[in-house]
Formats: sequence, structure tokens, C-alpha cells
Amino acid sequence: RENFTSEFRKGYITVTNVCLPSRYDEFAEVIENFEVRDDDVWVCSFPKTGTTWTQEMIWCIANDLDFEGAKVRLAERFPFLEYSVLFDYTTILPRYPEMKLPQLVLDSVEYTKNRASPRFIKTHLPFTLLPRQLRTGEKKPKIVYVARNPKDTCVSYYYHCRLMEGYRGDFNNFSRLFLGEKRSFAPYWDHVLDFWNRRTDSNVLFLKYEDMKANLSTVIEKSSAFFSKIMSSDETKALTQHLSFANMKSNPAVNYEDHIKMNRQMKSINVDGEFIRSGKVDQWREEMSESVIERFDNLTKDKFSSQNLFF
Ligand code: A3P
Repeated sequence: RENFTSEFRKGYITVTNVCLPSRYDEFAEVIENFEVRDDDVWVCSFPKTGTTWTQEMIWCIANDLDFEGAKVRLAERFPFLEYSVLFDYTTILPRYPEMKLPQLVLDSVEYTKNRASPRFIKTHLPFTLLPRQLRTGEKKPKIVYVARNPKDTCVSYYYHCRLMEGYRGDFNNFSRLFLGEKRSFAPYWDHVLDFWNRRTDSNVLFLKYEDMKANLSTVIEKSSAFFSKIMSSDETKALTQHLSFANMKSNPAVNYEDHIKMNRQMKSINVDGEFIRSGKVDQWREEMSESVIERFDNLTKDKFSSQNLFF
């Protein structure tokens, strides 16, 4: 366990080689001992790889396209297990006595734990830090992992940190932090590989953002089969429509607009932007310098090609 001060922000630690906010220490034990249920549904991912998109798709499939129920905020019906590790509102809250924050923000692990079955759970934790019962296979909930190409993930993460965490550096500096494994949940490559290597487990479904972009209905069909659901072509069409970039961008249940507003106020962040931002493949071409591209490509070739993982 090593403490370090990043160029970005103090207060990170490395736990089993993974970069995490130091507040993780307060939750490590409850997460390790979190009681997993066989009928849980977990969406796991590295940040900015299409998690929200995947969550909405999986929730709708598992709930027989309950579009009415999907009007409840995704953060409530599909909580982010370690959210409270990332954002310590308990220290900010005294400055805003009028704010009444719900438990899902103040103690996301407790909120998640107490949900009725079947629980839908989002996490960015790497496989090595998932609850013990899940790691050891003692419980076998459905796990859907979504991965996205590393360069686009980095670009998306950069805009996310500007909008949500007050990052003020330029993209080149950010990509150095990403490559240097100094962003929460880094290193990206090992995160993806740990799930890729479990992709043939019967309770694991491995998806790629790029496949969702190329042919969403095919991914919907594959995901429905994973949940033993049969969907008519009209239903697949309706879900494809519900999940379109334009619809998700304007859907307050999934676009985190209220969260961004609250976050900006509490952290005095003055950056405009949206969570569901541009939704493109290969946007890195517009953002990355040649030398950064080269570093990404070398690392990706080294880590992924030998494992037959290509983006
Ligand atoms: P960009 O920043 O490249 O636009 P996550 O949910 O893991 O944080 O991922 C967010 C990324 O998924 C953002 O990428 C966001 O725009 C993209 N995204 C969300 N919904 C989408 C959709 N319906 N179609 C395409 N991309 C989507």
C-alpha cells in the first residue's frame, strides 16, 4: 500500500496495484465482506467505457422492457457500489446545511446492500477487489462487463474529470496520468484483462462499446439470450430506440443532469458539459498527439494482442 501525491489531486492510494481514492480504506472491509446474492445483476467496467449505456440496456432487458419503471433515476435502481469512495460528501456537507443527500450518495455500499432482490449493481472495482463471495465463485450472480478501446476511454475520462472532478490540466497531462496509472481504477489494461480472461464463465457476459455502436440490436439479442429472455423484433426495435444516443442524452433518468448540477455547486466547478457527451468511436484521433498514440498502442499491443483482445 503506497501513498502518492499525483499532479492532479492528493489523497490517492494504491491497493493491489490499483489506484483508488484514499477513502477506499474506510470501505475496504465492507466491500470485501459484502453479501452477494445469486440473483444479483452486476455491471462491471473501467470508467467511461459505456457503463451507463450498458446498465440501461441490461436493466430494461431484465425487467421486460419496463419503460415506466425506467423513469426512476438509474442511480437509484442500479446503484454504484463504491460511489461514496469517490465522492466524500460528508466533508463538503457542513457547508451546505440545506442539502439533504440520500443514502445512495452518503453511503452507497449500505444503500446497495439493502436493496430488494434482484439487485442491480454497478461497479468500477477491478476483479481483484470485488467482494470475496463473487471472486471465489461462492455466489454466481450475472456479471456483464463492458470494455471500450483504451484511447477513447482516456479521452472520455479526461472530459469526465473536467466536468465532475474539477480537473484543470490539459489532455496531454491527463493522458500521462492515465498511462502512469494515477487515475481511479487504473491500470485500465489489467482491469479489462481480468474480466476478458473470465469471458467464458457461464455467469459472465463480455461486451464491447464499439460493438454496441456498430450494431446495438445484435448486442441486445446477445444480452437477452444471456438473461434467457426472448424478445420480438418490435421489442428489440423499441429498446434500440430507447437506448439511442439522442434519447439517452435527453433522458433525465440516465443523463445525470441533476447530479452534475449538485456536484458543480458543491465543488465550485465551472465547466459546461454533459455526462452523455459525444458518444463516438475513434475520437482520440482528434485529441491525441503522435507520441501519446504510440505509447497507448505499444502498451495495448503488449497487453491485449497476446490475449486475442482487439479493438
Ligand atoms: P464520450 O465521453 O466519449 O461521449 P460511462 O457511462 O462508462 O461513464 O461512459 C460514458 C461514455 O458513454 C460517454 O462517452 C458517453 O457519451 C457514452 N454513451 C452513453 N450513452 C451512450 C449512447 N446511448 N450511445 C453512445 N454512447 C453513449
